[in-house]
Amino acid sequence: MAMASPVLRRWTPTPSPTTPLNVASSIGGEHETGRGVFLTWRDVSVTAVDEKGRHKLILDQITGCARPGQVLALMGASGSGKTTLLDTLSGRLGVDMNGTGDILINGRRKRLSYGTSAYVTQENTLMTTLTVREAIHYSAQLQLPGSMLLAKKLARADRAIREMGLGAVASSRIGGRVCKGISGGERKRVSICMELLASPGLLFLDEPTSGLDSAAAYHVMAHIARLARTTGTTVVAAVHQPSTEVFDLFNGLCLLANGRMVYFGPTPEAAELSNEDLNSIISISTNEDLVDEYNYLTASSSSG
Ligand SMILES: Nc1ncnc2c1ncn2[C@@H]1O[C@H](COP(=O)(O)OP(=O)(O)OP(=O)(O)O)[C@@H](O)[C@H]1O
Ligand SMILES: [Mg+2]
Repeated sequence: MAMASPVLRRWTPTPSPTTPLNVASSIGGEHETGRGVFLTWRDVSVTAVDEKGRHKLILDQITGCARPGQVLALMGASGSGKTTLLDTLSGRLGVDMNGTGDILINGRRKRLSYGTSAYVTQENTLMTTLTVREAIHYSAQLQLPGSMLLAKKLARADRAIREMGLGAVASSRIGGRVCKGISGGERKRVSICMELLASPGLLFLDEPTSGLDSAAAYHVMAHIARLARTTGTTVVAAVHQPSTEVFDLFNGLCLLANGRMVYFGPTPEAAELSNEDLNSIISISTNEDLVDEYNYLTASSSSG
């Protein structure tokens, strides 16, 4: 079936100027968000260029969307392009990469303004000698606006500590390889907690559960899913081989294989897929339901 394609300008790495987004302004239970952040992307392709000027296609015409209050999982084998897609969507593509396609925030092309999005990379870069509370308090003092009273910054930090379930270890030293401190899952939650202090409407997570056992992975993802639900934060997370319990926490799934998208849709349906179904999905080059969804989101958020 032929689809009428929406009239959209091509996306380039230097998008048009921004207007402030109406995004979630709190990490806590109170839902202060207006409309949240609808992130949509269509026909996103990325090529890497080496020193000799040779091009390598890393992502091939990826289309998808992420909704406020939901967790979209990016899955696929190692090298399938998950990190590259996160980098592209968050505007952090390396200088040796070229991106084309459309990326829309609430239906419009705009650069992610400061504080709108946060990106938690796979590596933990934490001060091992600090306690959890000290690290998050310092981070709040550095990240939050100078006009905010210190007491308010610290109150927000304490609330973030509770929200990420770190209250019991707030006084524990973070530690590292040499001096043992908090667990790997707790360390990951500290990293995420620091990024959430500025209350981003959009959260990108690269492998938030890698290196964790299944219980710790579940704890981390359950906190993130609850946060998304209660604050309306839009979460896009690259995840490698999640357990069934973790998989059930996701609202949507984008499955990549060798830089191509082979499935996009809600996870319950994806979980029902047999190998035969999956093979037929892989052979379909365009998911028309997704195009419909994209058009709907684009139209409804532009008119809203
Ligand atoms: N700057 C680059 N130059 C050339 N090739 C690159 C570059 N960055 C990534 N690639 C290649 O692009 C492909 C996708 O890489 P990417 O890091 O996005 O995969 P991934 O799905 O995140 O993998 P993993 O699960 O191992 O983290 C890989 O084959 C990788 O080697
Ligand atoms: Mg990766």
